[in-house]
Amino acid sequence: MPVTVRTGASVGRHARLVAALVALALATAACGGSSVSGGKTGGKTGGPVKVGLVVPLSGVYAPLGEDMRNGFQLYLNQHGGKLGGKEIKLVSADEGEGPQTGVPATTRVVTQERVAAVVGLVNSATAAGVRDTVVSAKVPLIVANAGANGVTKGGSPYIWRTSFTNGNVGAALGPEVAKQVGTGTVYIITAGYTAGKEQIAGFKQTFQAAGGKIAGETYTPFGTTQDWQPYLSRIRSSGADAVFSFYAGAEAVNFVKQFAQFNAGGSVKLFGTGFLTEGGVLSAQGPAAAGVQTALHYSNLLDTPRNEEFATAYRQAYNEEPTVYAMQSYDAAAVLAGALSRASAATGEAIGKALADTGTVDSPRGSWTFDENHDPQQPYYLRKVENRNGKFANVVVSKLSNG
Ligand code: BEZ
Repeated sequence: MPVTVRTGASVGRHARLVAALVALALATAACGGSSVSGGKTGGKTGGPVKVGLVVPLSGVYAPLGEDMRNGFQLYLNQHGGKLGGKEIKLVSADEGEGPQTGVPATTRVVTQERVAAVVGLVNSATAAGVRDTVVSAKVPLIVANAGANGVTKGGSPYIWRTSFTNGNVGAALGPEVAKQVGTGTVYIITAGYTAGKEQIAGFKQTFQAAGGKIAGETYTPFGTTQDWQPYLSRIRSSGADAVFSFYAGAEAVNFVKQFAQFNAGGSVKLFGTGFLTEGGVLSAQGPAAAGVQTALHYSNLLDTPRNEEFATAYRQAYNEEPTVYAMQSYDAAAVLAGALSRASAATGEAIGKALADTGTVDSPRGSWTFDENHDPQQPYYLRKVENRNGKFANVVVSKLSNG
């Protein structure tokens, strides 16, 4: 029974309404003698530059938000509280679980706090919901996780992303799964909202193009599903040889644990996008995740000097392993720092222009550049969960593709 939290159409209507309210708020502010690109954003008048950090501090994605905050803060700490030589005042807001909370939180930092740029967003539906707001306010948004495909389309100077597109991360594993499953079939089960739908669509495209066959599909209610047994029964009845899925945060923990009980003999292989076994999620899953194979543009075990440097600093600062969420946010800080160092003023318009000259980013994930839509053109890796010295970890098996 496919269920979605909010349809694209209702998010679109909501976004248009919020954009209209933002335009009104900005016009009112301008009548009062100031504008978003004026001195109140800081920097221009010599004060700190205000940057909005909007990540989940509550709900199923709260641990992802904490990683993102840590990643951003690490970069800031490494540069004496400055980005591009400019003092920064971070304004934090809680994205919560989705657009119902994330859209008003972003709108508030743009219209009331008058930030010069916004960084963050975990949930695809939130990113889709705030797009028009930041574009009409001319405040650059650097999306540091949410993968909604359409958000970056068209390459607006005010929309940039340091994470991934849902379609690309889903597509990365298709050919590999087709190779491993051979003449068998794959059942798809995923969180039933934008991210799950788009990642599955990307996976199906490359999986089916490589000759893969689908046994069935289930889209589970996002944020409320606790019991996967009814869905796991469907997988059993389908006779599938493998499963492909997208879950993240608390949902990934519950799904993988229940899947491991269901699959006690280990005859059904579990694949997914890397969020399924990332960071704190993997520690909570423990042995239940052993053998799970995923695709992602990062692993904390990537054996490169740049990642070693980042991971060591992160462990020292937070006493835990870095995650893809922390890394994407660290890169967002680096990209914003570059733009602030080049911008003619600390205004949304000048920062947006300067972001276009970002060039190659020397990242813990490997080098990447923004493509024409302002999404990363980056490597993807095949990872497998293995027990390494008593701890489960995403071991890098091979490089998959650039996407
Ligand atoms: C998303 O909604 O885009 C998303 C959330 C968590 C992990 C990956 C993607």
